[in-house]
Formats: sequence, structure tokens, C-alpha cells
Amino acid sequence: GKGAAMVTAVAYRLAEQSRHIAETLAEFRLTTEQLLEVKRRMRVEIQNGLSKSTQDSATVKMLPTFVRSTPDGSEHGDFLALDLGGTNFRVLLVKIRSGKRRTVEMHNKIYAIPLEVMQGTGEELFDHIVQCISDFLDYMGMKNARLPLGFTFSFPCRQTSLDGILVTWTKGFKATDCEGEDVVGLLREAIKRREEFDLDVVAIVNDTVGTMMTCAYEESTCEIGLIAGTGSNACYMEEMKNIEMIDDDEGRMCVNMEWGAFGDNGCLDDIRTEYDRAVDDFSLNPGKQRYEKMCSGMYLGEIVRNILIDMTKRGFLFRGQISETLKTRGIFETKFLSQIESDRLALLQVRSILQHLGLDSTCDDSIIVKEVCGAVSRRAAQLCGAGMAAVVDKIRENRGLDRLNVTVGVDVHFICYSCITLIFSRIMHQTVNELAPQCNVNFLLSEDGSGKGAALITAVGCRLRQELNG
Ligand code: GLC
Repeated sequence: GKGAAMVTAVAYRLAEQSRHIAETLAEFRLTTEQLLEVKRRMRVEIQNGLSKSTQDSATVKMLPTFVRSTPDGSEHGDFLALDLGGTNFRVLLVKIRSGKRRTVEMHNKIYAIPLEVMQGTGEELFDHIVQCISDFLDYMGMKNARLPLGFTFSFPCRQTSLDGILVTWTKGFKATDCEGEDVVGLLREAIKRREEFDLDVVAIVNDTVGTMMTCAYEESTCEIGLIAGTGSNACYMEEMKNIEMIDDDEGRMCVNMEWGAFGDNGCLDDIRTEYDRAVDDFSLNPGKQRYEKMCSGMYLGEIVRNILIDMTKRGFLFRGQISETLKTRGIFETKFLSQIESDRLALLQVRSILQHLGLDSTCDDSIIVKEVCGAVSRRAAQLCGAGMAAVVDKIRENRGLDRLNVTVGVDVHFICYSCITLIFSRIMHQTVNELAPQCNVNFLLSEDGSGKGAALITAVGCRLRQELNG
């Protein structure tokens, strides 16, 4: 009678729910063949970025950094470093000592950059930066020191020396009148406007390059830098003869790949899901940085949120109630994502995290949310691994080797909140091993790569300048 019909309806509903969830999660599961295809496409885009005839239209820009060697240990001195491009802005004092007992001592202060400054005018942004430097110099009691400064500026820059021109903002930044401008110039002008202190701006450095340099300082086989933080990007030592936009053919130079833009020509469309497209459509830079939007901290939480909204709309989650919280962009910070995804975390704790976010969940809900977080971050790590597999095989072929031993410096500054680093790097490592079996790839985690690296590059820059000036 009625009871049986109701039971059937509920059973039907449950079957429909689990089918839908399984189908959604399956879209995030990439086969080895698909990952190999991603690796192959990355190789094509790398070549396009390096070749003269294709580089203008290339999506992966392969920007020369003018860093020609990794540190040799002779670097020394006191330096200021700025770090802009992650979640916070930092000013650092870095003291590097060379000789028998090499040491690097660092002092730093973190400053928030308000959203309205990130997305206001360029002048406001750079005035704010100089204001923070001023505060830091007061705090350290060194307003009159005039130290050489290295600027970790984690955006694509076209460089012709150690300074450079901003190609385009990425991630959460959109300040006006900066794109196409010389970044060192913008900083110098802001320092002048303040008329309070003077600084000797020596170099701008991408965070990937800073990370590679920092790791290379400890481990000489490190020739690749990787950031899996707010954004996603890598750099590596390429043969000068392959960097066609520079005439010099001798030796090697570090290339900032700007691999976040991989896929902007549509070459990843077959693996992008409707959730990736939604995240992209509502971002500050629609159509841009598509690979980054599938791989990096700034976007993973948004992918998860879009999936959860969809499941809730269908009545499969949160009792079909889309709360204000769930509608809020950015609620799922990476740190929650990684906490939720963590193997060790009991479902009760997942529920308490969701509760904390203002999401009232049942036990079933928490199981689903955990699965969604796992699928999204697993795919991110695999995609990142596929990109890395392309890079290590390129280096191996450059050198005509059957086997390559290489170390990748990874900055874990922003994702170290919990085990995501471990899970993420484990999956990424497995993926690289599987997709590039002729390479032994070692990942070296660096605590504070970008800041320290800027100081090391500044040290090298100062040394070269002294050599040039006789
Ligand atoms: C973005 C930037 C890139 C940076 C990366 C990681 O992709 O364009 O320059 O290295 O984020 O911060």
C-alpha cells in the first residue's frame, strides 16, 4: 500500500543521489591516459613559449628571468626583501653570511593588503607598499640604512635585466595603471612621493625563482621552483640556446614559465568541468589562468563550493537548503579544504568545521563534503604533477640523458596549515613518477622560499654590479 510506495520513493531518491554524486566526482577523476595527454600538451605549450615564431601568441609565456646561475654560497650582506602576490604582503630583513658557517637570518613583518587597495589604483597600491616598508624600517630601527632591496613580485613580468614590466595581474589583484609598466619604476616613484627614506631597488623576482634559489642554496641539484599556493606556477633552468627571444646561446637561464595560463587557448577544455567554468566566469580574470584555477589554493575552495551548491539545489545535500553562507564567495579557504580532506579527520570534526562556517550538516552531508574536497584537491595535485612531468622530461631531453636526477624546490608557505602539503605533495610526486619514469624527482620543501630567494638574487645582483663597476 502507501507505506511500500513511500519506501520505494525514498529508495529511488537515494539511488538517484548516489548516482549523481558518483557521476560528479567521476568528472574529477583523471585517468593516466588523460594525465599523459596533459603532460604532452604542456610540452607543446612550453615549446610555443620558447620559439620565436610562436611566442607572441603563446599562452605559457616562458619569461626569461636573467637569473643565470643558482647561488654558490659566496653571497653575503644585509638585504631588504618585499614579498607581494600571495595572501599577504611581507617586508623582510635578510642577513646572509658566507664562509665556513653559512647562515641566513631573517626578520619579517606581515601586512594585510585590503581588497580595495589590491583592486584600486596603482598609485594607492604602491603608496601602501611604501607605507608598510616605512613601518618596518621604524620597527627595525633602520630608517637610514639604504639597504639593497629585492622585490618578490609574483606576477608575470617581461624582464630584460633584473627589473621588469608587469604583463598582466593575476590572482586577486587588479590595480589600475600597472600593466605594461616597469615595476621597479612604480616602486621608486612611490618611495620618492613619500620623501622619507631611500632604497636601492636591485631586482624583481618571481616567487618560483626565489624558491628555486633558496632550495638551490641548500641542495645544488635544485633547478626547478614550484609554487602551489594562492596561485600555481613553476620555473626551471633552460638552455640559453632554446630561449629564442635572447640572442646569447651560452649556458642556462632560469625561465619563469607562468604555467598558470596553460589552457587559456582551450587546450584543456575537454577536462574542465562545469564547476571550473563557473569559477572562471565569476573570477576577476575570466578566460585567463585556467590551469591555475584548477590547481591552486585561491580557487579550489570555490570549485568545492560550486559543486556543493549544485548538489544542494538538486536536494542531495544540506536538506536542499542553500544558506547565505553557501552563497558567499570565498568561504572555503584552502585551509578548511585541507582540514576537511585530511585522512585523519573524523567526520564529527568535519561537521564541526562546516558548523563553524555556518553550514548545518548531517552526518551524510559531511561524508559527501569530505569526498568532494578529496576529489578536487586530488585532481589539483595530479594536474600539477602532469605539468611537472613535462618540465623534468624537457630538462632530461635538453641534456640528452636517459635518466635525470633533479630536485624541485617547493614553497609551502601558504598551504602548510595542515596535511594538504603532505597529501598534495604525495599525490603530485606519485603522478610525476608515473608520467616521467626516466626521471628521479626529489621534492624539497622550503619554509620561506620567496623572501629568502629575493635576498639571494639581490646579493648576486649586487655582486655583479660591483664587478661591472670594476
Ligand atoms: C600566479 C602568477 C605567477 C606566480 C604564481 C604563484 O600564477 O602569475 O607569477 O608565480 O601565481 O604565486
